[in-house]
Parts: sequence; C-alpha cells; structure tokens
Amino acid sequence: MDVRAAVAFKAGQPLSIETVQVEGPRAFEVLVEIKATGVCHTDAFTLSGDDPEGMFPAILGHEGAGVVVEVGKGVTSLKPGDHVIPLYTPECRECEYCLNPKTNLCQKIRSTQGAGVMPDGSSRFSIGGEKIFHYMGTSTFANYTVLPEIALAKVRPDAPFDKICYIGCGVTTGIGAVINTAKVEPGSNVVVFGLGGIGLNVIQGARLVGANMIVGIDINPEKKAMAERYGMTHFVNPREVEGDLVPYLVDLTKGGADYSFECIGRPDTMRQALECAHKGWGESIIIGVAGAGQEISTRPFQLVTGRSWRGSAFGGARGRTDVPKIVDWYMDGKIEIDSMITHTMQLDEINTAFDLMHEGKSIRSVVTF
Ligand code: APR
Ligand code: ZN
Repeated sequence: MDVRAAVAFKAGQPLSIETVQVEGPRAFEVLVEIKATGVCHTDAFTLSGDDPEGMFPAILGHEGAGVVVEVGKGVTSLKPGDHVIPLYTPECRECEYCLNPKTNLCQKIRSTQGAGVMPDGSSRFSIGGEKIFHYMGTSTFANYTVLPEIALAKVRPDAPFDKICYIGCGVTTGIGAVINTAKVEPGSNVVVFGLGGIGLNVIQGARLVGANMIVGIDINPEKKAMAERYGMTHFVNPREVEGDLVPYLVDLTKGGADYSFECIGRPDTMRQALECAHKGWGESIIIGVAGAGQEISTRPFQLVTGRSWRGSAFGGARGRTDVPKIVDWYMDGKIEIDSMITHTMQLDEINTAFDLMHEGKSIRSVVTF
C-alpha cells in the first residue's frame, strides 16, 4: 500500500515528504497506523551523518503512537484496533537479557534492527522499487509502519496519541532512569545536568519518588521556570558560579548528590556529575549520548571512595511491561506531558521540528498525521 513518509535520502539533508510503498506484515509482525510521532535528538544525530549505524535512504522516527491495522501469522498479543506505542528497545521475554532482571536491553532482534531491516533480514519499505531502510526498528515518520510484535506496547485506548507518543522515548528515558536504573529512594538529594526534554523528565521522576533536593543545572537561565514546574527545587547556572562547579554542588547538597544524572551528552559534564556524587555512596547515571568517539575520564580515586558510574538506555524500562504503566501515570495525572510538547505540526512541516530543536526553541515537537 501507499503511505506518506518523511524520507531521509542522505545524511545532512532535510527530510523529503514522499509517497512510499509498505508491504503488509509477515509472520510475527504487525502493521500499525501511526497517529503521532515526536522528533528527538537521536533522529537528528542519525540524520547528521554522525551515527555510525545510520543508513540511507531511511525512514527515521522512534517516538510514535498509533493503532494496529493488521497482524501477521503467529501474532498473539495484539489485534487490529489495539492502541500501541512502538519500542526501539523491544521486550521478547525469552532471550538471555530479558530473563536477567538486571537489564532491559533485549537482544532478540538487535542485529537486524541495527542493520535497518526487519528480523527476517528484509525491508517492508520501498520507493519506486528501491529499498528504504527501517530505523531503530520503528520508522515512525510514516503514517503506516511495520514492527515486530515484541516491539509494541499495548496501551489504554483513551490516551491521546499526540501526547503519549512522547512516552515512546523521552518521558520513559528520564523517569525510567530515576525509577528503574537509579532506584532513587524518597528523601534523596538529586542533581540533574541539562534541563532539556530528558532532564525535565528526570526531574519529574525524582519528584514522583519523593526526592528531597532536586538541583537542576543548565547554562540557559530560561530553563529555570520550566524545570521548577516539574519539581526542581534549586537552579544552578554554571556560568554564574564562581570557582569550580563540583565543590559548589557538594556544598549545596551538604556532601554531594545521592544520585546525579547527566542529560546533556558531554564528557566534561559527565565528569562533573560523577564528582558531585556523595562520597561513599553517590551514584551517577549517564543518559546523554556523547558524540561518536568521545571518551570519559575521572581520577579512579573517585570510584575507590565509593561513587559509582552507571548508564541508562530507555530508562532501564522493559517496554511492553513498563510503558503501559507510564501511560496510566499520565492519564491519572501523576506525571505531566502536555506542557513539554511545545510544538505540534503536520508531516510536511517536519523539518521545522529539527530547526526548532537545533535552535533550542522546543522541548518537544510532535508531528500528527
Ligand atoms: N552545562 C550545562 N547545561 C548545558 C551544557 C553545559 N555545558 N550544554 C548544554 N546544556 C543544556 C542546554 O542548555 C539544554 O537545556 O543541556 C540541555 C540539553 O537539552 P536538549 O538539547 O533539549 O536535549 P535532550 O533532548 O534533553 O537530550 C539530552 O540525551 O537523548 C540524549 O542525545 C540526547 O545527548 C542528548 C541528551
Ligand atoms: Zn529479549
């Protein structure tokens, strides 16, 4: 069938709105009508050409929500009409990783997903007979897309697509890092580096679990008001701190952060985040994605004296299990999403979403179909 998609033909070029062809679902696959999709930094990273896994032409997009249209042979957990959120981190519930409670990184379809194809090694998308690659196993910049059954979370039907699509990446990444990865206890002092879409969700996750101090750090003073709305208790602009930031933060938190989160993607702030963690027990979680080839460093004594350095992908969430719960939290008013979606647009304006992101003008742009 014909579908409308924003195609990335080449790195560094704007997306092109095209009519492309999508084949129906094969065994264990599902055809989904995408109703809304967020535009995330990871899409921009791949489009820029810096992503070593990036392949072109491709249909990008990994933060969607939609409705099941058709299921392939063998699909048992979904049926036409179900509302779903695509998962770039699937949950097969049977691989070595899924069976180990310490990780959410299901490996069942990792190699084909990374290669831009479906688990059987082929693509469902083409244009004029030429193959188009899938992206992150999701390709949500199209009004119809095909996904493996294990890469779809079934969610309640009364939740609005143009808001819950954000749970497909940013919301879960931030809140999940607090709840699943760090397991922040009530009363903890938390420091968050970077108050963009990810950092704000870390902040509301920290508030949700009853953190004590929630310190937000950003070089952009305009982020303060927004972050306070989600629960930030103290704002620090590193450019206004005299002397080193780390001792300032250790002092502010009376000994250091119980948990710190890096939501920027810079090796220098990753180091600061680690070093502001409390001696003896402080944990620092890296969420931001650094540029290809960059490395982190610190003095080993920081770890010897009890700090630990960890990372989190997709908020440590097991998508089919955890994403429906986060949708419930949103619908029950426990977390906020609406005010983070600063721009909503049609597919043909999708390049504007990238511009707004690069200019730092949006927290999240959502495309509706
Ligand atoms: N110190 C403090 N804050 C900084 C610094 C710095 N040196 N550099 C940038 N910032 C702030 C920006 O002002 C911005 O508010 O970090 C914030 C980053 O937010 P966004 O650009 O909106 O990024 P976000 O979508 O939150 O993603 C953050 O996570 O998913 C990854 O690839 C993504 O690495 C990125 C990170
Ligand atoms: Zn698995």
